[in-house]
Amino acid sequence: MLPLPLLLLAVLLPGGDSGPAFQGPTTFHLNQISSFANSSWAQNQGSGWLGDVQIQGWDNEAGTAIFLKPWSKGNLSDEEVTELVELFRVYLIGFVRVVQDHVSEFQLTYPFEIQGTAGCELREGKATVSFLRGALGGVDFVSLRNGTCVPAAEGSSRAQWFCSLFTQYQGISDIIQKLLYHTCPRYLWSVLEAGKEELQRQVKPKAWLSSGPPPGPDRLLLVCHVLGFYPKPVWVRWMRGQQELPGAQQGDILPNADGTWYLRVTLDVAAGEAAGLACRVRHSSLGNQDIVLYWGKSTSLTVILLAVILPTLILLICLALWFWRRWSYQNIL
Ligand SMILES: *[C@@H]1O[C@H](CO)[C@@H](O)[C@H](O)[C@H]1NC(C)=O
Ligand SMILES: *[C@@H]1O[C@H](CO)[C@@H](O)[C@H](O)[C@H]1NC(C)=O
Ligand SMILES: *[C@@H]1O[C@H](CO)[C@@H](O)[C@H](O)[C@H]1NC(C)=O
Repeated sequence: MLPLPLLLLAVLLPGGDSGPAFQGPTTFHLNQISSFANSSWAQNQGSGWLGDVQIQGWDNEAGTAIFLKPWSKGNLSDEEVTELVELFRVYLIGFVRVVQDHVSEFQLTYPFEIQGTAGCELREGKATVSFLRGALGGVDFVSLRNGTCVPAAEGSSRAQWFCSLFTQYQGISDIIQKLLYHTCPRYLWSVLEAGKEELQRQVKPKAWLSSGPPPGPDRLLLVCHVLGFYPKPVWVRWMRGQQELPGAQQGDILPNADGTWYLRVTLDVAAGEAAGLACRVRHSSLGNQDIVLYWGKSTSLTVILLAVILPTLILLICLALWFWRRWSYQNIL
């Protein structure tokens, strides 16, 4: 059974204690996903990210980086960019070869996937920290701490073995450390500056309510859609008065093609209890003015009053005035 036509009303209310001003992303990281299907087939995926904004991709065919923003290179010179791209090209090819050569020693069985992430982050003041982590099939495997390979607890003896192998390759270790502790922080500062306008922009969300497929007899699935906001952090709750309702299900925050985000939050309620519930949206672009959307009858009554009865009343009064004037005019004649 579908609910009555849904009428919504966005009401701006003074917000609660929403967070301080937005500052933009503070982390740069490169992601690597290497998939090994069998002994003769493997594929790399590479990408570069500022927080949750992708700014670089990797073209495997051409063996080159794709710069997705005009400012993705920060203040790296063309020579530096060429050098880095070549380094990653050689690394990705070498990585696949080394892993394929060591499959039996590592006791790996096809198919498997290796993920890596490396980058640096701004901290308080002008400090930066760098990080590198590797995972096997989604489980932590090794990390680099202060330049030292550290096997993850979940990585078992395989990870220890990997770290002892890694320490034998001093040359590779030196290159990685230079990239992590020198190139990365310098690049991070410059790219945050170069992309400032886009990274620190504020785009207000739009919100609306709908009903999903009924979860059961006499139950309603209320859906609160929040669309087109930037940056990504957002706070969306179903509320009764000032009370947050605990049973709400929040989906993943999904990307739109224009770089903004979309989120839906659903609530399964008894049909009789939906009236008066509200979806409340808090986002940095809204300042303290939360968006509050009310569900159900009380709202539809208000809207009907405002949208139908009020104009009808005005029309009636105008008509009455017109008749009265016409009547008095004729009487004078
Ligand atoms: C290896 O995997 C690829 C991709 O799944 C497949 O197309 C190919 O036929 C496989 N080769 C062998 C020898 O199994
Ligand atoms: C990191 O390594 C440097 C020298 O290699 C050392 O001076 C420093 O204390 C180490 N820091 C931590 C947190 O282990
Ligand atoms: C690039 O920016 C970083 C950080 O702001 C700075 O330290 C470095 O000197 C700059 N490099 C060039 C070539 O301008």
